[in-house]
Amino acid sequence: MKVDVVLGLQWGDEGKGKIVDVLTPKYDVVARFQGGPNAGHSLEFGGNKYVLNTIPSGIFHEHCINIIGNGVVVDPVQLKKEIEKAETTGVDIRKNLYISEKAHVILPTHRLVDAASEAYKGVHKVGSTLRGISPTYQDKIGRSGLRIGDLISPNFKSKYDTAVSNHKKLLDSLNYEYNLADHEPAFYEAVEYLKQFKIVNTEYYVNHLISQGKKVLAEGAQGTLLDIDFGSYPFVTSSNTITGGACSGLGIAPQKINKVYGIFKAYCTRVGNGPFPTEQENETGELLRKLGHEFGATTGRPRRTGWLDLPTLKYAIMLNGVTDLICTKSDVLSGFETVEVCDSYDIGGTVTTELPFNMMDERIKPLYKSFAGWTGNLSAIKQYAELPETFKTYMDYVEQQIQVPVSMISVGPDREETIIK
Ligand code: IMP
Repeated sequence: MKVDVVLGLQWGDEGKGKIVDVLTPKYDVVARFQGGPNAGHSLEFGGNKYVLNTIPSGIFHEHCINIIGNGVVVDPVQLKKEIEKAETTGVDIRKNLYISEKAHVILPTHRLVDAASEAYKGVHKVGSTLRGISPTYQDKIGRSGLRIGDLISPNFKSKYDTAVSNHKKLLDSLNYEYNLADHEPAFYEAVEYLKQFKIVNTEYYVNHLISQGKKVLAEGAQGTLLDIDFGSYPFVTSSNTITGGACSGLGIAPQKINKVYGIFKAYCTRVGNGPFPTEQENETGELLRKLGHEFGATTGRPRRTGWLDLPTLKYAIMLNGVTDLICTKSDVLSGFETVEVCDSYDIGGTVTTELPFNMMDERIKPLYKSFAGWTGNLSAIKQYAELPETFKTYMDYVEQQIQVPVSMISVGPDREETIIK
């Protein structure tokens, strides 16, 4: 039995939560492998909207086992809030959620260090979600982090104190003012709370489930262009968001990976700073933001918006070994007279479809192909054949350029608003 992976091909916010929710009935297990509460996976069903940050998006399906893998960083305070909110729907989190004992813990001081570092960088800041992601992964790589398993060990307090004393030195060197007493009670409370959940060796567990023939879906967070190695460094997140991250973030061998679902929006968005070649800082961009409700699910920040960028999409498909493409938010483009797609860049007179080392190069000029737009409410459409001809021309072009079939098109936020092609 094999594991399928679902992940974002752009800068995050491709609509992964909804797609995982749609795919989940076919799977027995949904497992998160990287990132943490910087993610905001939105799911809508039955007229309600839920945002999940750390819990895998299969949680609302009663049959589904949900695993938070070793590659994830977990903030106990945030996770407690999330669990309590999800429980209001009646799902049994205690039964279906498994947390890796090897996942690293986001401490209150990690969040403070994140804020202090970003403030120190001033205009050069990454625009992080301020959830403590980078400092926690830094401690992991620096071999001084705390893991979920440590929370239930007798040495927890001494390990915690050592980490906090290091963070305090850092905060002082950055002249950052803070009051840890504002944060620690909630942290300790959440640590106690989490002890009632299944904290296990998830690499043994997930491999056991695979050998039993269970179908596993590995759920990515953020997007390929935010990957620590291949994203627009340094404007990236601190984990491997690509398919390879599913192996290291869950303990799954590479040959166990089967399908890779790559999700892309019909246009592009980005939150935070960093290069964005097709960005539209104009009325078109405003309209995309308004029609697409492009405001961060985690931070509420307005997202930057722009046209679909095929060089970055092809790069992401190559890195991830995408087998199935899923296009989301196609409905948002309805009403635009023309729809543009960037198919190459002109960099100082040289035309290329490859991403340069320096994505900040001011000479990068996107070259566009224009398509006639479409009108009408796509959300009500159930069959691919019923979509407007102009939309299909646009989609045919995209498929022909990227050489991977688009198997699903999302035309609205609800589970039901999904067309299988
Ligand atoms: P961090 O992951 O909070 O350190 O943020 C690093 C960069 O990744 C910033 O530009 C964030 O806006 C961006 N980012 C992090 N998580 C997400 C996400 O889930 N969706 C979109 N952007 C994200």
